[in-house]
Amino acid sequence: MIFLTNKKPGRFKGDMIVYFVRQPSKKGAPQCSDTLVQERVNKAYQVGDCSGKKEECVLLYPERVFDGVQAKRLLIAGLGKDDMDRELFRRAGGMVAGKALSLKCERICLMAPTELNFPVEEMVECLAEGLILGSYQFKKYKKEDDDEKREIKRISINIGNLTSLSTRKALMLGVSSGNAGAVARDMANEPANVWTPAAFADYGKKIAKGTKVQCKIIEKAEMKQLKMGGILGVNQGSAQAPKLVVLEYRTGKKVPTLLLVGKGLTFDSGGISLKPSAGMEDMKYDMCGGAAVMAAMEAIALEEPKVDVVALIPTTENLPASTALKPGDIITQYGGKTVEVINTDAEGRLILADALAYGVEKFAPTAIIDLATLTGAVILGLGHHRSGLLSNNDALADKVLQAGDYTGEPMWRLPLGEEYTKQIKSEVADIKNIGGRPAGTITAAAFLQEFVGDTPWVHLDIAGTAWNYTEKPYTPKKGPSGIGARTLIQLVRDWK
Ligand code: BES
Ligand code: ZN
Ligand code: ZN
Repeated sequence: MIFLTNKKPGRFKGDMIVYFVRQPSKKGAPQCSDTLVQERVNKAYQVGDCSGKKEECVLLYPERVFDGVQAKRLLIAGLGKDDMDRELFRRAGGMVAGKALSLKCERICLMAPTELNFPVEEMVECLAEGLILGSYQFKKYKKEDDDEKREIKRISINIGNLTSLSTRKALMLGVSSGNAGAVARDMANEPANVWTPAAFADYGKKIAKGTKVQCKIIEKAEMKQLKMGGILGVNQGSAQAPKLVVLEYRTGKKVPTLLLVGKGLTFDSGGISLKPSAGMEDMKYDMCGGAAVMAAMEAIALEEPKVDVVALIPTTENLPASTALKPGDIITQYGGKTVEVINTDAEGRLILADALAYGVEKFAPTAIIDLATLTGAVILGLGHHRSGLLSNNDALADKVLQAGDYTGEPMWRLPLGEEYTKQIKSEVADIKNIGGRPAGTITAAAFLQEFVGDTPWVHLDIAGTAWNYTEKPYTPKKGPSGIGARTLIQLVRDWK
């Protein structure tokens, strides 16, 4: 639980109190808002332990002499000397959370450095996000000794007399985004025998309870009626029924409609075009696009923004079986386009195509954003540091790129074009599902583009960022990052 406080720091009796300091541009001790703490900082600086550099942590034990302070520990956290931005405070929150967890602190207090020239609202919002994401753990399936247990129970952020409606709202926004990232990580961390298409459907129904969001599940029988040959085809080898989760948030006003689509492949073995067994366990993460969309919708249900948002999560497993789709099979996607399936491992685009075509026809959205762990090729191009962005609309692309920068989930745009679309032409069907080795991320997006018509659309390929994401204090080294959820929430908050 995170809350704002204006109590005198001396009255905090918890496990750790945290002061933030900047690194001075010239030689000298970093400066801190409290004169007594400053004495300690000076001493630590003199012996060379405290420079204020970014992500530096100096742990001190306040003694009696140290008037007033009753906290068990005092942490001096460095903010560096570069220009301050939102990401700096997110990372600072993550760093404090990591330190608190490793020291098994249950109650901590952060003295927000309100003396710095940075808007206090954004500081609070980003510290909260970083604290939540940085203290994330997934230990459900591990028996733990009681003395191994680590959990931060109460976090106070001290902003002195600056508590106001706007700082409280900022905290709420930070908590909402942070929680969404954590929810997306939880879904991804669950193994594929637990996080099934049915689990996605159940979560959707849970979001709809008591909120303005409506949830409808398109079951296999209805998919057949609707002729959704993509998701049905990919599902052919699986014993788990496919689901298309539809979540609708409506304001009841005449406002734009955003359509969010997320790939919810709960396990991707490759199907008959079987993947190598080494590392195949990671393919339980092939639902991270769906998780991001689902987590964002949960936040949207609580935040009640001013735009309509519809979410579609096509979800199934991709497994080999005598009933499975075979290379060379021709399927018919929703809306009638035929696809020659050259490689059954290029399945994400098949389930997304149905959802995109259905979404365009049924909801006539103003804009579409889809998220998918779609291609290994995006990892070769961009590594684990940026998601790939492809779009048929410059203005929308810029908007999403900006939201990504704002939330610390950066992207890089790749081109689309006729040359790439030509790579997916088929001799026997309208198109085929792979375009050969060159430009794998682009040809995958070119495939999706066939199903969005003229609707402004952005595709995010998160195969490189959804897990083992670039190292930061608030993202786990290994495992799911929860990427995308916070960007989507930001986009919806800012949508004009
Ligand atoms: N889910 C994978 C993409 C993926 C690969 C994500 C590695 C994360 C790490 C997707 O369904 C897939 O298998 N794509 C193929 C496409 C190919 C057959 C054209 C790929 O990228 O190898
Ligand atoms: Zn695949
Ligand atoms: Zn896949």
